Amino acid sequence: MGHQVHIGSRLESGSAVRASRPLDDVLIGAHPSIVKLRALIERVADTDATVLISGESGTGKEVVARAIHARSARADGSFVPVNCAAIPQDLLESEMFGHERGAFTGALGSRHGLFSSAEGGTIFLDEIGEMPLALQAKLLRVLEDGVVRAVGSDRGVRVDARVIAASNTDLAMAVGKGSFRRDLFYRLQVVPIAIAPLRDRRADIPLLIEHFLGRIRAETPGRELEVSRDAMVHLWSYDWPGNVRELENLVSRLAILCDGATIEASLLPANLVNSPRAAASIPDSLPEGGVNLPELVRELEGRLINEALKQTGGNKQAAAKLLGLKRTTFSAKLRRCGVLVSASHDAGEETQPSKLEEASDDGG
Ligand SMILES: Nc1ncnc2c1ncn2[C@@H]1O[C@H](COP(=O)(O)OP(=O)(O)OP(=O)(O)O)[C@@H](O)[C@H]1O
Ligand SMILES: [Mg+2]
Repeated sequence: MGHQVHIGSRLESGSAVRASRPLDDVLIGAHPSIVKLRALIERVADTDATVLISGESGTGKEVVARAIHARSARADGSFVPVNCAAIPQDLLESEMFGHERGAFTGALGSRHGLFSSAEGGTIFLDEIGEMPLALQAKLLRVLEDGVVRAVGSDRGVRVDARVIAASNTDLAMAVGKGSFRRDLFYRLQVVPIAIAPLRDRRADIPLLIEHFLGRIRAETPGRELEVSRDAMVHLWSYDWPGNVRELENLVSRLAILCDGATIEASLLPANLVNSPRAAASIPDSLPEGGVNLPELVRELEGRLINEALKQTGGNKQAAAKLLGLKRTTFSAKLRRCGVLVSASHDAGEETQPSKLEEASDDGG
């Protein structure tokens, strides 16, 4: 079934933690919600608490689950992902808990379940919202007493596996509709972790792009690769329904399609360039009804200024240089677009010009 199981003995707390990659190499992002998320990961990794991760598809739920495991005292044990949506419902129970010989038609021998494979490690119950109600009841019992019962067996076996669950559907809503058990929902979310969609943390888009480009550069030494400012504006404006996974795949595709060192806007897929938000804000040609030029210019300025600040870690001097502006002109624009950006309804938390300004002033 392709479950990734690596067997290893459990070491005492500490040794494994030192070996794991730094969290900011694994979970990229400077948005406050991601900064908080990294801190939360470090904190829950120290515990055995059950964690429920929620977020749209491609937001990084598995990245977070693996990071928690890698930082925990269980890091030398297995991380065992179980995709509850991909395993046929009638097989899920025996996959998770194992079965005895003859427990059902086709059960020729007895088999250990994935909970046993996760002994001393972590079991990752992905898309848990898809778990049938009857199995939810059994899982709840396992969580309460730490004992699993193989299908067809009347004997329980104690297992020591940490449970991390994830869902890209709203489990609270599923509870309301009766398709998810309320008691299990509360038992799972001892520590709830919600990951924001990428469109709500747009400032992370350039950082993630740079991260993925860096990986491609490392794979092909000597290759230079960057994104043109025009292209970056489109990438920034797009809504990313597939979140980070969509962005990652696009960057890989663009790297293949790009002949030179610069990824130009012309290389971007049509759906991205013509996304409603981008089209409504920065048109390629003059629409019939005309445009509000000053507003468009301000929007473009706002986006690029935010992007420049993010790319330079909030350093105004460097950001001004990146935009070909004098520092004083830049500061004036920053003040103006700061008001503008925080007033615009979809900018949300991602651009916090006042905070950025403080950060860069602190830095000198
Ligand atoms: N903050 C991040 N920094 C770096 N890479 C990320 C980040 N978030 C996600 N990714 C990458 O994006 C891809 C999707 O992440 P992941 O598989 O964890 O998403 P998911 O939430 O589990 O998606 P799904 O709901 O579709 O299963 C992975 O290749 C992952 O490495
Ligand atoms: Mg996933």
